[in-house]
Amino acid sequence: MPSDGKIGGKSDGTLGGRSDGTLGGRSDGGKAGEILRLDNVSASYRGLKALQGVSLAVEAGEIVAVVGANGAGKSTLLRTIAGQVAMEGTVMFDGQSLARVPPHQVTRRGVGLVPEGRRLFPRLSVEDNLRLGAYTRRGPDRFAPLAQVFELFPRLGERLSQRAETLSGGEQQMLAIGRALMTQPRLLMLDEPSQGIAPKLVDDILAAVGRIRDLGVTILLVEQRLAESLELANRAYVLQTGRVVMSGPAADIARDDGVRRAYLGL
Ligand SMILES: Nc1ncnc2c1ncn2[C@@H]1O[C@H](COP(=O)(O)OP(=O)(O)O)[C@@H](O)[C@H]1O
Ligand SMILES: [Mg+2]
Repeated sequence: MPSDGKIGGKSDGTLGGRSDGTLGGRSDGGKAGEILRLDNVSASYRGLKALQGVSLAVEAGEIVAVVGANGAGKSTLLRTIAGQVAMEGTVMFDGQSLARVPPHQVTRRGVGLVPEGRRLFPRLSVEDNLRLGAYTRRGPDRFAPLAQVFELFPRLGERLSQRAETLSGGEQQMLAIGRALMTQPRLLMLDEPSQGIAPKLVDDILAAVGRIRDLGVTILLVEQRLAESLELANRAYVLQTGRVVMSGPAADIARDDGVRRAYLGL
C-alpha cells in the first residue's frame, strides 16, 4: 500500500517519473506481475445470474478493457470486484482474497471505482467532492494526491468552489475520476467514463486514463467506445450475458468480426 501520498504509490513525487522501475506502486519492490485475478466468479441479483464463471487476470501496469453489449454484466463485474455485489468464486488482489471484504476495505487496499453515472455529491463543491474521496485515508498527507489530480485535470483546479452539479458532463467525469484517485488506488476501475459527454472531452478523458496508467496505476476500463478503448488498452475481455466469450491482445479483439456481433449483441 502506498504510504507517501502519491497516486500509484510513487516515491519520487514527480509525474510519470518513476525511477524504481516498478509499475502499479507495488510495495514489495518486486517485478511487475499479476495484480488482479478472478477465478470462476459468479454473481446474481435475486436469482438472476449476472456473472457466470468469469475468470480474468490483470497485470500490474496494464490497461485492460472489458467490452460487451448492454446488460452483459460489465458494471456488475466492476461492482463485484469493489465488494458491492455478493459473489461466488475467487477474487485475488495483490495476492490477497477480496472475498467478503466490505467495499470501504477494498478501497483501502487500493482498488478504486469510478462508477457508472459518476455518483458525485451534486450540491457540494469540486473541492469537497475531492476531499471526501480521501475518506478511507488517514494521516496528514491524505489529501496529497490533490496536486496530481489538478495536474491531470487543470479544469478542476480552476473550479474548486463550483458546485459539482453546475459542471459540464465532461468536467463531472474528471471530478469522478479525481475523487477515485484521492483513495490512492493501485487499480482504478472506470465504468463507461465517456457516457454522456461531448466528443471533444471524450478524447481528453481517455488520454487522461492513459496518463494515469503512466503514473503507475493499473486500469480496468469498461467503455462503450469500442475502437477508442481497444486502442488504449493492452488486452481486452469480451463479456456476453455474464460470461467471458473472448479475450486477448486489444489489437486482435479490435480486428475480430465476431467481437462486433458479441459487442452489438447480434
Ligand atoms: N441492481 C440490480 N438488480 C437486479 N438486476 C440487476 C441489477 N443491476 C444489474 N442487473 C441485471 O444484471 C445484468 C447485468 O447488468 P450490468 O452489469 O449492469 O450490465 P452492463 O453494465 O454490461 O450493461 C442485466 O441483466 C441487468 O438487468
Ligand atoms: Mg453498465
